[in-house]
Amino acid sequence: MNLILLGPPGAGKGTQAKLLETLYGITQIATGDMLRAEVKAGTPIGKQAQAIMASGALVPDEIIIAMLRSRLTGPDCAAGFILDGFPRTVPQAEALDQMLDQAGLSLDAVIELKVDDAALTDRIAGRFSCAQCGAGYHDEWKTALVPGVCDVCGSHDFVRRADDNRETVAARLVAYHAQTAPILPYYAAQGRFFQVDGMAPMADVTREIEIVLATLPPRDGK
Ligand code: AP5
Repeated sequence: MNLILLGPPGAGKGTQAKLLETLYGITQIATGDMLRAEVKAGTPIGKQAQAIMASGALVPDEIIIAMLRSRLTGPDCAAGFILDGFPRTVPQAEALDQMLDQAGLSLDAVIELKVDDAALTDRIAGRFSCAQCGAGYHDEWKTALVPGVCDVCGSHDFVRRADDNRETVAARLVAYHAQTAPILPYYAAQGRFFQVDGMAPMADVTREIEIVLATLPPRDGK
């Protein structure tokens, strides 16, 4: 099963993608995580992307598209993938269609998580994760069971993203509305586009996505 999760920064794409990975045995492909790995490794892509990401703007399409090209057909994607954070512009969506065509793949569903802008800043400003295993937490809504200890791996080491501050979130939202929201009608016109209430509690959002996926119309009349 091949999916796209769309939505503004903080909508819950990463949270839901990780849950769907486990539920459906498919692989999360998060362009933000891929870029942060490039930055950490000090690669040429990372050096180009670092300042752009810190400003809240989008990294140029050609860098992202080149980075994604071989990823979709990786062996870990044999059972399918969940795109989280890609595509983010109409040229990226068009490039994805071409990549899928060339690989003989297609999308099963494009799911938009709908969340009010006002909720997003609080969600992002409260977010942190385990530095060892990447498990996600939130100061208010998802704290560790034992304070200061990761529920998943037991590490005591937590990190916050450099772009998770109120100023950068405002810039990321501007970029979302100007450059990413225009891809919603692009996918609506293609069919297999679904909207889910991302304001609901996390478990309810997952359940709504599961319902969408369980009731997908058959492909090509089959
Ligand atoms: P990226 O890493 O993709 O960040 P983003 O899209 O801004 O999304 P986030 O990761 O901030 O949010 P999310 O929707 O995953 O929410 P999460 O589940 O963590 O991109 C970062 C940067 O990289 C971009 O700004 C850009 O510069 C660059 N980039 C990346 N991809 C690119 C591309 N394709 N083209 C160009 N540039 C690109 O949840 C957020 C918080 O809310 C968490 O704390 C979570 O616990 C909590 N939460 C989640 N769901 C709920 C819920 N239902 N109720 C209450 N709290 C919730």
